[in-house]
Amino acid sequence: MKLLIVNGPNLNLLGIREKHIYGDRDYDALCACIRAGAEKLGCEVELFQSNHEGAIVDRIQQAYFDGTEGIVINPAAYTHTSVAILDALKAVQLPAAEVHLTDVTHREPFRQISYAGMACEAHFIGLGFEGYVKAMEWLVGHHKS
Ligand code: DQA
Repeated sequence: MKLLIVNGPNLNLLGIREKHIYGDRDYDALCACIRAGAEKLGCEVELFQSNHEGAIVDRIQQAYFDGTEGIVINPAAYTHTSVAILDALKAVQLPAAEVHLTDVTHREPFRQISYAGMACEAHFIGLGFEGYVKAMEWLVGHHKS
């Protein structure tokens, strides 16, 4: 199964940004964790990170044409603002799982809405890096069923 993992703004600064919230492991460590999880599942995985909303929309659109069979997305701050990312996910009609490292449900009021989440069938919130692995497992199970 071919999976696309999309990470939004500032996730490239993991290990630097607000360590008391996001921990001290960096983005490379996250990528290694995702690659290891994908290998165990026998999945082909592509990792994409951007700080730009339009670039994320472009990459999601590309997924429709490049044989991607499932999307794991942590849109980061765009979660709470981006109708464009929601629309892109709806447009490509691929199974999608939303991930957040932190438990956004117990954070600030402005984090309580998730636009992208409205196009995702599964949600892995507050599980840290493990959330990405669980999301990939869910997509593989969904694919088989
Ligand atoms: C985040 C939560 C978002 O609210 C925040 O803007 C992020 C990261 C998370 O993974 O916990 O950048 O998506």
